[in-house]
Amino acid sequence: MDGAEIETIEGLGTQDDLHPIQAAFVDNAALQCGFCIPGMIMQSRSLLQDNPDPTEAEIRKGLSDNLCRCTGYEKIIDAVQDAAERMNSDQTVATDGGDSTHETMPCSSQKCRGESDE
Ligand code: FES
Repeated sequence: MDGAEIETIEGLGTQDDLHPIQAAFVDNAALQCGFCIPGMIMQSRSLLQDNPDPTEAEIRKGLSDNLCRCTGYEKIIDAVQDAAERMNSDQTVATDGGDSTHETMPCSSQKCRGESDE
């Protein structure tokens, strides 16, 4: 561990300039209480650094040490796949209006479009 770097969620992005993984979690509604999300995002970062285009099975295995009591994991898997696409295409910003110079990505969920899901 001597000389090792420790990176936390606080060092990954800012409210105004989210990291693509953070943006993907927001845009895919991949959280509920949020308790597990810092670990999920940091583990996703490590996974995507080692494997920029993981399969669903590889994502599930890569995140298997992180437990979420809320989401059922489907949206988390979707978010990691979305993050991989964003990082591979250099598309980096969420829909929340960050002050970034990067292109924004429209949210596709019904709630973001102001539509009812009924
Ligand atoms: S969102 Fe609540 S534990 Fe994962």
